[in-house]
Amino acid sequence: MIKSGDEIRQAYLDFFESKGHLILDSAPLVPKNDPSLLWINAGMAPFKPYFDGSLEPPKKRIATSQKCIRTNDIENVGKTARHHTYFEMLGNFSFGDYFKEEAIVWGWEFVTEVLEFDPDKLWITIYEEDDEAFEIWHQTVGLAEERIVRMGKKENFWQIGTGPCGPCSEIHYDRGPEAGDSKEDVLGGDGDRYLEIWNLVFTQYNYTEAGEYKELPNKNIDTGMGLERVASILQETETNFETDLIKPIIDQTVEMTGIPYQKDEESLTAYRVIADHIRSASVAISDGALPSNEGRGYVIRRLIRRAARYGRKLGFEEPFLYKLVEITAEIVKGVAPDLKKQLAHVKNVLKSEEESFLKTLEQGLNILEEMLSQLKAEDKKVLQGKDAFRLYDTYGFPLDLTEDIAAEAGIKVDQKGFEKEMEAQRKRARAAREETSFSSGEVEKLYSEFKDQIEEDNFTGYHSLKEETQAIGLLKDNQKVDKLSQGDQGDIILIKTPFYAESGGQIGDKGVIQNENFEAEVKDTVKKAEVFVHQVEVISGQIELNDQVEAVVYNNRRQATARHHSATHLLHKALKEVLGDHVNQSGSLVAPDRLRFDFTHFSALKEAEIDEIERKVNQAVMENYPVETAVKAIDEAKEMGATALFGEKYGEEVRVVKMGDFSMELCGGTHVNATGDIGAFKIVSESGIAAGVRRIEAVTGEYALDYFNSKLDILNKTAAELKTEPDNLLDRVKQLQQQQKDLEKELEALKQKLAGSKKDELIDQLQQIEGVNVLTAELEDLDNSALRNLNDQLKDKIDSAVIVLASKADNKVIFVASVTKDLIEKGFKAGDIISKVAGIAGGGGGGRPDMAQAGGSKPEKTVAALAEVEKIVKEIAG
Ligand code: ALA
Repeated sequence: MIKSGDEIRQAYLDFFESKGHLILDSAPLVPKNDPSLLWINAGMAPFKPYFDGSLEPPKKRIATSQKCIRTNDIENVGKTARHHTYFEMLGNFSFGDYFKEEAIVWGWEFVTEVLEFDPDKLWITIYEEDDEAFEIWHQTVGLAEERIVRMGKKENFWQIGTGPCGPCSEIHYDRGPEAGDSKEDVLGGDGDRYLEIWNLVFTQYNYTEAGEYKELPNKNIDTGMGLERVASILQETETNFETDLIKPIIDQTVEMTGIPYQKDEESLTAYRVIADHIRSASVAISDGALPSNEGRGYVIRRLIRRAARYGRKLGFEEPFLYKLVEITAEIVKGVAPDLKKQLAHVKNVLKSEEESFLKTLEQGLNILEEMLSQLKAEDKKVLQGKDAFRLYDTYGFPLDLTEDIAAEAGIKVDQKGFEKEMEAQRKRARAAREETSFSSGEVEKLYSEFKDQIEEDNFTGYHSLKEETQAIGLLKDNQKVDKLSQGDQGDIILIKTPFYAESGGQIGDKGVIQNENFEAEVKDTVKKAEVFVHQVEVISGQIELNDQVEAVVYNNRRQATARHHSATHLLHKALKEVLGDHVNQSGSLVAPDRLRFDFTHFSALKEAEIDEIERKVNQAVMENYPVETAVKAIDEAKEMGATALFGEKYGEEVRVVKMGDFSMELCGGTHVNATGDIGAFKIVSESGIAAGVRRIEAVTGEYALDYFNSKLDILNKTAAELKTEPDNLLDRVKQLQQQQKDLEKELEALKQKLAGSKKDELIDQLQQIEGVNVLTAELEDLDNSALRNLNDQLKDKIDSAVIVLASKADNKVIFVASVTKDLIEKGFKAGDIISKVAGIAGGGGGGRPDMAQAGGSKPEKTVAALAEVEKIVKEIAG
């Protein structure tokens, strides 16, 4: 009997394999080449190009179990039985192969014979106009008419934005009246009684930008079955949260808090939110996403913050989410095996994100307190929606938290205003998404038209840099044209090409395309809809469509790029050896003049580690390993131990790049013939770019030599300047530093001495004002401590006096004042005097009654400021 989530998934894939389907791994959650999607949100999402015909599928029948993220209903997660941000969709797909009949008959066979659902509990919905589907369910499958319910477009026509869409038929499971008997507990309703378990979409239209439903050249099938829902039926649980796909996370959380799962509504929701969000956040991070302030990263941030916040409700005070990653990895290993391999990284990211959130939470609390006390002071009773939204948006404060805290102060929150702000933000996000999806769809279509004309394996640039070929496409300003003339910028598409198009971090080739009639410079080569596009400027003459041309890649630039690319592989391996196996590539840039390599690691690299990594790479360079490439089946390549990138989707066949026994990676880039060609490798910087992600920049070959030489040059010039040899430079610098220190000391002593001799001179300037001894003077070039020192010495010599000294330096003036004890008793206070004096010179300050100092920004007022002392003394004494 099939019961566990893993068993259901396996049974599904086995079943469709037996029906001739190719079984593929789940695609990573982060979509590739699809800017219209933030996340893979359905089984069909990675296959969009197969549906609209822009790419050829490896087989016309495919089945998968696909990890998905949907966050549009995030507010409902934890509050209902079946809303999730992360879930698994089982799907079988036909690309112009079988259609409605097989999809329906197999669907029925699987649920009744493999899952052994009681047919009496199953209900079918179809699109109201779909008589064909009705006949198949009724005649071929043999279901009674009343079990097949016709529904409108809203329920039974599947469509997201533009693109492939069509009528659908859903299989529902009736859990009986005890599962719910509200008015929502009807077929297609939101109640818990009827569960929609499987959606069969008959993808036969393409919904265009112009709002038309165009028949697709091929009829396709796209189905989606919710694994968690099916598990909840087979495991007889009340909601999806108690299935073996989620419950173990909740159990572990309960163990940590000691608060029972079902204690009350609040704790129930908290446990569910945490379990759901930890699944989406940790799998997404293991697929390469990272928390940030925009787009995908912001979704991750929100998920983590929301989970962390609910954690506070269960009494967690310290970060705790990272402790749930292991159990999550265990649960999802059948669909997301990379999470197990990325444990350390995912835990680190979650921990530091939660830590920083706890700090933000504190800041937000302070700001909210301020807002509240302001309102109280003004005797207002409502916190504005925009303030609540600011707390939400900047400090991650959910509305309910703000409301709770405000309520304690007897203040309400303007919910409508908050919703208005929220809606405005949603609109902004939607507008941004639509913009990107439109332009990319149009562009893809334009280029995909060339797909059929291009030979398979039309990239010849692994072996040659020059090709006699034909221009089968010319474009200017995203329009097809017949010719490009001198001065024109446009695109050339070739039937075969030696030009490498930017991918896998390696930038595109440059070079020339020419024949006797024209010469065009290739400024960049990129891939659009899998087509290699040469972005050119015509230097002379004119190229016409279908011209025979010669395509020549700039050799030096290509070689320099290859050096950096091969070095990237050596670096990846060396990092793993020195830092540990948790290191994984999370991004890279390979250019002719440098490489950049981003990888998962949690702390800054120590100098010794960097040295060691560099040494290992250069060692591998000197070993001069041959670089061998071979095309293998993906499983074979993985078995051989080739390093694959996380979050990367690979086809059935992959290219393996091997450098002796040192490194073996899946890679489509261009490389040197042997590692010795790299010449030399030098790391020029190491830094952190996000929580848990470090970046190394390095240079190879001539750029490494240039780097060494430029440093040597600085060294030589510095040595010459200091009149020594480079080898003695360090000693020379130490010597100079010592000299400098000695001189400073000497200078200080001299100043003190000078001040000492000034002392007697100054005593002679003592004045009597209203019977009080007063001494004011401006000294040249004394710093604070020297001035204070002098003041102290004067005070020792004179029994009774008010002394104010000043000294100018660097566009400012400093004052020091002192008053002897007898005069303090008569009401003279150094602090008061100095604040008035410094005030005149554009400053302020104060201090004790016996001694005070201050500065001023108007040194030109020094004389006037000192003259003020006489007035002050007269006022007090008089
Ligand atoms: N693509 C369909 C869905 O997401 C199967 O429901």
